[in-house]
Amino acid sequence: MGRCPACGEWNTFKEAPSQPKSASASDSSALFSSISSGVTPMPLSEIDCSGEQRIRLNMSEVDRLLGGGLVKGSLVLLGGEPGIGKSTLSLQIPLMQSSLRTLYVTGEESSSQVKMRSERLGGEASGCIIYPQTHIEEVIQAAAAERPDLMIVDSVQTMFTDRVDSTPGSVSQIKEVASMLLRYAKQSSVPVILIGHITKDGYIAGPKILEHIVDVVLQFEGDSSSSYRILRSIKNRFGSTSEIAVFEMTGSGLREVTNPSEMLIPMHEQGLSGTAIASTLDGSRPLLFEVQALVSSAAYGTAQRSATGFDARRLNMLLAVLEKRAGFKLSAKDVFLNMAGGLKVNDPACDLAVVSAVLSSNFDYPLGSDVCFAGEVGLSGEIRPVGQSSRRAAEAARLGFKKMFLSTYTSSDFIVPKGLEVVKVSDIPALVRSLFKA
Ligand code: TYD
Ligand code: MG
Repeated sequence: MGRCPACGEWNTFKEAPSQPKSASASDSSALFSSISSGVTPMPLSEIDCSGEQRIRLNMSEVDRLLGGGLVKGSLVLLGGEPGIGKSTLSLQIPLMQSSLRTLYVTGEESSSQVKMRSERLGGEASGCIIYPQTHIEEVIQAAAAERPDLMIVDSVQTMFTDRVDSTPGSVSQIKEVASMLLRYAKQSSVPVILIGHITKDGYIAGPKILEHIVDVVLQFEGDSSSSYRILRSIKNRFGSTSEIAVFEMTGSGLREVTNPSEMLIPMHEQGLSGTAIASTLDGSRPLLFEVQALVSSAAYGTAQRSATGFDARRLNMLLAVLEKRAGFKLSAKDVFLNMAGGLKVNDPACDLAVVSAVLSSNFDYPLGSDVCFAGEVGLSGEIRPVGQSSRRAAEAARLGFKKMFLSTYTSSDFIVPKGLEVVKVSDIPALVRSLFKA
């Protein structure tokens, strides 16, 4: 400004540094002190990682999902909708493994509420220290004093730090709290499990903004009407992703379901129309489950399409392919699709089972309960091969399936397991012929 609005004089303003300048000066001194702290660049070949130790939890499915246990010094984000069972799972970990000294920081429930829950869950509570606190600086101080083997923070939305001037749960608070916990985990080698709420659509200010900060992201999913819960690994710096672990919520906590296929496949003997068994892959493990379809005449002008656990646009595409390539007039029909057990599926190998279930319901013709499907359907009605067919087939044979539908173009190194008849189909008309012998 040239002229002072108060006194009317010219050129009387002086420049003064504002607050951030001094802050950045101290930042750069911190930068230089870290250089002198002995951390130097090092050839990759000389780095020793044998010290990367894992803590085995007494829950084999969680261990498997993490890639063989919890890596020391890692920050694990456990996300999910409210009420899905995040607090229950994270309290079960110390209760199942009492030799682990666990600091359980609760910002949502009081100590007595946690105690009541732990009594419901059973197990040995001797190694578990409960700390109701929301101030993250005090949490880290307490952790430094207690020296636990594992820290659990429930939840990131309730924690706050003095360093950021906004309310708990805001984006800047969540980011700062998470990066402070990350620093604590790396410096102390204590693994930290951080719980975060995700809203229904999964994106609002919360765990999504943390995914790049943390080492592992586990997401808890499930249908509120079903007691099954699926824990999915979305990101894992120490193991493979897209694996799942299945749990059942019981009156006394979560129970691990070690063989989910057996629970997702129905027990009816002669087979009902409108169902088909799909063979999908979750990470490294083949998983078989039931796809259910209902096709009925549209009661009103426009036909309804509804899909639970499956992409509705993909269903529309598959119906359009059926209409165009096989001449089925599905446009005047309502189509409802459902994946068993509240599963959410995005493996394209599921297409063939979806198409078969729709056809089966349309003709009211059961496909048989010992038949399963794996194949992707292309826009021109061709059945495309899917990855790891041998492993899918081996799992199907193990579960007692007699017949499996696959693409004609399945790779030549495919191994047919004993006792399983493989039917290869090239396109939708061929599928219809072999399903209904028409
Ligand atoms: P909770 O772990 O509190 O969910 P989150 O922390 O993700 O918000 O789980 C709450 C639900 O779990 C609640 O609806 C009750 C149910 N539940 C059981 O069915 N059995 C149990 O043993 C426990 C502890 C909870
Ligand atoms: Mg909770």
